[in-house]
Amino acid sequence: MHNRLSRIIKPKSGRCVMLAVDHGYFGNVPGQLKCFGDLNPLFEHADALMLTRGMLRSCVSPDNDIPIVLRVSAGASMLKELSNEDINVTIEDAIRLNVSAITCSIFIGGEFEKNSLMNLSKLVNWGQEYGIPTLAVTAVGREMVRDDRYLGMASRMAAEMGATFVKTYYCENFENVTSICPVPVVIAGGKKVEERDALQMAKDAIEKGAVGVDMGRNIFQSDSPIGMIKAVRAIVHENASVDEAYNIYQNGPKGL
Ligand code: 5RP
Repeated sequence: MHNRLSRIIKPKSGRCVMLAVDHGYFGNVPGQLKCFGDLNPLFEHADALMLTRGMLRSCVSPDNDIPIVLRVSAGASMLKELSNEDINVTIEDAIRLNVSAITCSIFIGGEFEKNSLMNLSKLVNWGQEYGIPTLAVTAVGREMVRDDRYLGMASRMAAEMGATFVKTYYCENFENVTSICPVPVVIAGGKKVEERDALQMAKDAIEKGAVGVDMGRNIFQSDSPIGMIKAVRAIVHENASVDEAYNIYQNGPKGL
């Protein structure tokens, strides 16, 4: 378990930059994800890749040894109730795919809250049996408020249930989220914003106790995805300032 987690959260810095490209699992296919193969040049800059089994199989070369955080939940599309998902991948297939962690979402306050919590429990039990870390994603329903009270509660519940690490959203007073969550916390990037704002968010999250990011759109939808992931890495792993990181982004190649 620890060895697999160390492939994702790097022992040298105690931090991680995960690249999230699992959006398509509920029918959301933004920007560069329409042509997934184009993202390959980004992979070497990420500490881990979060994606679905289908995309792993068809778009990532088996020669690539990047640690995989496999989304093993599905069953809902963005056209209907997002919280209505189940576990769709067996632990045997996750092991066969040699993943470093498995992940699903929990929808606290969502219509199918209980089912999503039982999904997480299933993954934690599998993970305990086979030594595979579980990442709990504190997904936010359309009508949920992304504040420290709600995200803190969801993150703490995930940890209480045995998640090895937690992915949540950044919010004001983020220290109130990390301070009550006893396992490592990474933040999602959320919708695409200006590059400087995304870098500021990463910086604030690290300063307030996150161990890293699991960022998607703010990297692959940037006009310089490689510049942006390098800039995020500088903040996460080297404690670079936002100005220093922004400079790295600006000097990155345009496009992929
Ligand atoms: C959806 C997810 C996505 O991986 C996550 O939201 C993607 O990251 P970003 O918001 O940075 O594009 O877990 O539940």
